[in-house]
Amino acid sequence: MNARAPQPVCDYTHSNYQQEFWGQGARAYEDLAERIALRKLLPRGGQLCLEVGAGAGRLTDELQAFGRVVLLDYSRTQLQQAQARLGRSARFIYVAADVYQLPFVARQFDCVTMVRVLHHMADAPAALAGVAALLRPAAPLLLEFASKLHVKAIARYALGMQAWSPFSLEPVEFAVLNFDFHPRAVRAWLAAAGMRVEQHKTISHLRAAFLKRTLPYRLLAAIDGWLQETGNLWQLTPSVMVRAVAAQSGAGAAPLAAAEHALFCCPLCRSAALGATAAGLNCAQCGRHWALQDGIYDFKTQPE
Ligand SMILES: C[S@@+](CC[C@H](N)C(=O)[O-])C[C@H]1O[C@@H](n2cnc3c(N)ncnc32)[C@H](O)[C@@H]1O
Ligand SMILES: [Zn+2]
Repeated sequence: MNARAPQPVCDYTHSNYQQEFWGQGARAYEDLAERIALRKLLPRGGQLCLEVGAGAGRLTDELQAFGRVVLLDYSRTQLQQAQARLGRSARFIYVAADVYQLPFVARQFDCVTMVRVLHHMADAPAALAGVAALLRPAAPLLLEFASKLHVKAIARYALGMQAWSPFSLEPVEFAVLNFDFHPRAVRAWLAAAGMRVEQHKTISHLRAAFLKRTLPYRLLAAIDGWLQETGNLWQLTPSVMVRAVAAQSGAGAAPLAAAEHALFCCPLCRSAALGATAAGLNCAQCGRHWALQDGIYDFKTQPE
């Protein structure tokens, strides 16, 4: 059994995040800049991609080169919004689960993306270790994180307007369950999870209200796309995306699951012996039932 104490979750259930944060147009520049970075780092294609913390599926349309996409989120209501956007088909698999208790057989995915999710992780190293175990050999993790080491934070610190140091390695929790990380700390956690960072793209170099007011967002994002190339030299932006792969070729890939339910294992006892019914999956080892309702698998072990 998985005896680790549960980590707190920044719960987006019933949140209107997609509409309120992205839908008003004020962050069109950030949205496009993130897409540009993703397009540069994504592999050409593959059978199976996992989006961790997919939310309402804002970025899922960037994953068209994959045969199947698994959207995982803690919040069922976010997944319902994603379903409304993407529809229900064999191409999209919707999974409500906690990133700390991932319900998948190891080494199956051709790519895992995680954008704007790590910044909610109180135990980022544990979350990254769980995600790293899911990748096939040489398959990349595309991880975006909020960085504490950015120009504005450095200036505020230098002017005595901010107590915390942007240079120290520990995370800063600037609001409850909202963390900024030092890029070196993230690299160290990835290394501990057996991953090596191949590439960095720095994102949102031009996140300044006066620039966003005066210049078209497409122009700003295009300039950001050029500046993203400096990411391998230094990282001084509020957002960083890395492409990480397994540092050493270890165990081989898991065989590709033909049946959808064969992707999963029990998040409690880790058994892959799950019997499928129309109502969900039954763990043959620990007896736990995992519901499948309205096209969403529910592997959450804590009540909402
Ligand atoms: C800021 S939103 C980002 C959504 C999407 N990736 C995007 O960029 O539009 C963060 C998402 O992470 C999810 N999340 C937070 N903690 C989680 C956890 N422990 N396990 C799974 N998902 C989690 C939230 O439910 C939310 O949908
Ligand atoms: Zn079980």
